[in-house]
Amino acid sequence: MDKIVIEGGKRLNGTIAVNGAKNAALPLQCAVLLADGVCTFRRVPRLSDIETMNRLLQSLGCDIAGEQTLTIDPRGVNEGPLEAAYDLVKTMRASVTVMGPLLARYGRAKVSLPGGCAIGARPIDQHLRGLEALGADIELSHGYVHAQARRLRGAQFVFDTITVGGTQNVMMAAALAKGSTRLENVAREPEVQELALVLNKMGAKIDGAGTPVIEIEGVDHLRGVEHVILPDRIEAGTFMVAAAITRGNVLLEHAPLDHMHAVVTKLEEAGVECRAEGHGIRVIGPDRLTPIDVSTQPHPGFPTDMQAQIMVLATVAHGQSTIIETIFENRFMHVPELCRMGAQIHVNANTAVVRGPTHYGGTTVMATDLRASASLVLAGLVARGKTEIRRVYHLDRGYEAIDVRLRELGAEIQRYHGARG
Ligand code: EPU
Repeated sequence: MDKIVIEGGKRLNGTIAVNGAKNAALPLQCAVLLADGVCTFRRVPRLSDIETMNRLLQSLGCDIAGEQTLTIDPRGVNEGPLEAAYDLVKTMRASVTVMGPLLARYGRAKVSLPGGCAIGARPIDQHLRGLEALGADIELSHGYVHAQARRLRGAQFVFDTITVGGTQNVMMAAALAKGSTRLENVAREPEVQELALVLNKMGAKIDGAGTPVIEIEGVDHLRGVEHVILPDRIEAGTFMVAAAITRGNVLLEHAPLDHMHAVVTKLEEAGVECRAEGHGIRVIGPDRLTPIDVSTQPHPGFPTDMQAQIMVLATVAHGQSTIIETIFENRFMHVPELCRMGAQIHVNANTAVVRGPTHYGGTTVMATDLRASASLVLAGLVARGKTEIRRVYHLDRGYEAIDVRLRELGAEIQRYHGARG
């Protein structure tokens, strides 16, 4: 297994281009299953999650070529097993998002139940209830969801919980259903809006994405599409924190400011200068950071996917910060590792009280999930001495070549291949 070693204490300076968004690309890959023709996506990030989704699509019969420009031909799917097997779903929960498209386009789907994961229980009850509302017949047996429907029909459905994947799954299914669908209490994330935009380019009739209610007029066919993937607001936010805590000065090209108000607001409260420049954001870290209080919320609130990273910023700020995680029940796994590096964080249920400033000391730490790993990299950038991060495959799920890109900004960071641990 690879490891990353960081010699902390360098200011980050320069320009970095933000990649296409993982969480926008993954549902778009699934949306191809709805199409009658070839789909081409550009600015696709090179990440292991994207490869996992490609493997799943190939197992369903899709023909796939390219990487950053990704071409997916779904025309071989019709005779396939229409099954998302456990081995793929357990490595990446976003695999369940093939269920809606398969059901709508081919009338059936067999998808492994994902089970829990490192950050929480993460049930898919809302995906299933939404598909049932559209007329799907759903059975759970032997760890799999078996879904069937001759033709889905439009319906009104209110989500009990705001769910990004659930909204995407049901919206895709409704795009090919007969008649009109009204989905209420939907997720408003930019990645939901992006999916609706692309489905509409394919011929769907979807209205309201980005608001709490989405209305869909079902159509009979969707065609292939070409699309450039939206920039990744979480990758951008992670690099913004890196610039902020190292007292750096970094221009993030393509950073999607419109989707990042909650993060920018918190950085500014902490004393970080963030300003629009060209097609991006310039971030200038202050000499002294001010504490902040953050509570994660569905979009447009502060994203849970930035909670671990903003916590590192809070640890180096002068004073006491409070960080509340409201989306996932077990998303503080970075805390014990940050504490081993010197942070003072006290967790009670879903609230972390952070006392700063921490003068981090480098040591060996273990990555546990994607965003937790990013927080360890950030702590390593400001730590005295060497930080060695093990299990970096978690990072590879969501950050393309993070070592190379941080090195270009002046960080002393190396990746070693094949290290044990
Ligand atoms: N939930 C339910 N029932 C459901 C679905 C969700 O109770 O049927 C709960 C979950 O357990 C969770 C909350 O609702 O507590 C929100 O989950 P959501 O369904 O919104 O999450 P997701 O679609 O599985 C996506 C991102 C995550 C991100 C969340 C929240 C993708 C591929 N993943 O997951 O990204 O944290 O939305 O914004 O889009 C990451 O990139 O590191 C990551 C984990």
